[in-house]
Amino acid sequence: MAPTLLSSPLQGFTDFRFRNAFQHYFGGIDTFYAPYIRLNGQLKIKQSYQNDLQLENNSTLNVIPQVMTNDPDEFLFVVKYVQSLGYKELNWNLGCPYPMVTKSGMGSGLICNPTRINEVLHKAHNESDIVVSMKMRMGYENATEILDAFPILDKYPLKNIAIHARIGKQLYNGPVDLDAFEKCISGTKHKLYYNGDITSLESFKKIQNRFPTIDHFMIGRGLIADPFLPNMIKNDTKAYPKNRWEIFSEFHDRIYQQYDEYLSGPTPIKMKMLGFWEFFSQSFPNPQKIVKAIKKASSPKKYQETVASILKNV
Ligand SMILES: Cc1cc2nc3c(=O)[nH]c(=O)nc-3n(C[C@H](O)[C@H](O)[C@H](O)COP(=O)(O)O)c2cc1C
Repeated sequence: MAPTLLSSPLQGFTDFRFRNAFQHYFGGIDTFYAPYIRLNGQLKIKQSYQNDLQLENNSTLNVIPQVMTNDPDEFLFVVKYVQSLGYKELNWNLGCPYPMVTKSGMGSGLICNPTRINEVLHKAHNESDIVVSMKMRMGYENATEILDAFPILDKYPLKNIAIHARIGKQLYNGPVDLDAFEKCISGTKHKLYYNGDITSLESFKKIQNRFPTIDHFMIGRGLIADPFLPNMIKNDTKAYPKNRWEIFSEFHDRIYQQYDEYLSGPTPIKMKMLGFWEFFSQSFPNPQKIVKAIKKASSPKKYQETVASILKNV
């Protein structure tokens, strides 16, 4: 059976504009997780999160909203908000590694606090009928933290736990820890999804062969770096479509146009696209040269010329 592939959220990248264009040009993703909603001490949903989750902006996609908080009231507030839009599931982020987040006991900084995890899940399950799923790292300081959280997590009817097989302290550095991920499989009754460093058909197969009981895989950065990857995994092929760069070019133009309409001025759109090119460039023979060329483009016209020349010479 073909594996189930999920788009792992990337704040600043995988918003509804990206998701719709991705789905239109590449496909291969069963469900998209939206980047996290975070409240700033107020029970108020920022307009950009609202736009991202509006059903009319996601009408052809399966989307699961995500929240990052350590506060039971905030969690419930976001539950009510996403339910008011029609969503049935809320994903909870216990993975974010950034010190500003973890020092305040959120993201991967919350994994070592099963008591607080319990308070949030208790309120969510007692005061709503939302389906809760988790996205976690294996800990912040070390990969055994999650094992101590499992007995609490096992008390609740979570849909699944997606695990990015790193610890928070690593940020995005160093390898994924597959031995520690293996311990998670026997450490919980919940269904686990695998996440981390799936960047090619080979790396996917390595994970699939090592963990035959896992059939859900989340792909984050690899999907932006090579948007054809999910479909290639689904079809078990390393072959790109003949018109690979034509499709990529149309996709690029679609997101460029949409971000250009949304962002005001040449600098924000340039920075937005530069962020994407830091990933896209990994599909080209000399990534650094590509990023350098994009950085150098000093006007929208020069940017378009640079992109045209990159795609002509590939
Ligand atoms: C720029 C950036 C933004 C991210 N934003 C989120 C987010 O909003 N929610 C989340 O659960 N994970 C977020 N992540 C983590 C990814 O979803 C993913 O778990 C991680 O990159 C590992 O998977 P990958 O190797 O397939 O990218 C982010 C990662 C990056 C690099």
